[in-house]
Amino acid sequence: MLVNFNEILKMAKEKKYAVPHFNINNLEWTKYILEKMQELNLPVILGVSEGAKKYMGGFYTVRVLVEGLMKDLNITIPVCLHLDHGSSFESCKEAIDAGFSSVMIDASKYDLETNKKITKEVVDYAHPKAVSVEAEVGHVGGTEDNIYGDVFRATLEDCIEISKTGIDALAPALGSVHGLYKGEPNLDFERMKQINEALSIPLVLHGGTGIPYDMIKKSINCGISKININTELQVTWHKALVNFTKENPNIYDPRKIIGSGEKAIKDKINELVDIFNPNHISSKIEKSNII
Ligand code: 13P
Repeated sequence: MLVNFNEILKMAKEKKYAVPHFNINNLEWTKYILEKMQELNLPVILGVSEGAKKYMGGFYTVRVLVEGLMKDLNITIPVCLHLDHGSSFESCKEAIDAGFSSVMIDASKYDLETNKKITKEVVDYAHPKAVSVEAEVGHVGGTEDNIYGDVFRATLEDCIEISKTGIDALAPALGSVHGLYKGEPNLDFERMKQINEALSIPLVLHGGTGIPYDMIKKSINCGISKININTELQVTWHKALVNFTKENPNIYDPRKIIGSGEKAIKDKINELVDIFNPNHISSKIEKSNII
């Protein structure tokens, strides 16, 4: 079932674990993630960036692909199909109209008042359709969809202000970056804790790739309930594929080449889930959260 993230994150916040958000790029990755999470019997959030949407054809294609795989593979876990870093109201609306169960509006490049205004517009459009909304304040830096940005840390006051729009989850930028870190990440755990204490909604950690596992655990303890992973699966898959093509230079069947990364991706998911949710706590879903 496609669900919004409200119940799965509420439970995670209460019981102090994190739900993985894995970015998808194509049919194969979507299939591997769904199969592995079904085997673990845990909910998953599938993140789709605007770049991935363009690559795969469009929001409608992505939604039909996900639902088709869920049907054919008998996927019964809660699956949230989430627009990652929607850059405008129009982009979020397009995803919602195509059947996405969740969106992130990232208006963090604007001043707070404009961010609030655009975020509120998205909330007003999404909520009557039971679609959940994530927003960002401050700015998660690094490289995503080949675009680079600097880090601006969120303030507690800005987090409180943006939460007044009625969002369901918040990604406060606190030092994490998209892509690979140069050196150790420098996360502001103290502010993470303050924000978590001040707000009732779940917090999201972007740039999950390369954060040492002790820092991931500390973040969960400070209130993080959703962790976004993109680059980590790309790097893992790429390494397996490079080895495969080196060892099998004459194999040209794309199913074998792309599929050579399947085990590596599934093993990495297992490893990450054991850190995010060591007791593998699952959640029950109420009808009102099914899209
Ligand atoms: P990474 O690519 O660093 O894992 O970040 C993913 C992310 O935050 C997607 O929103």
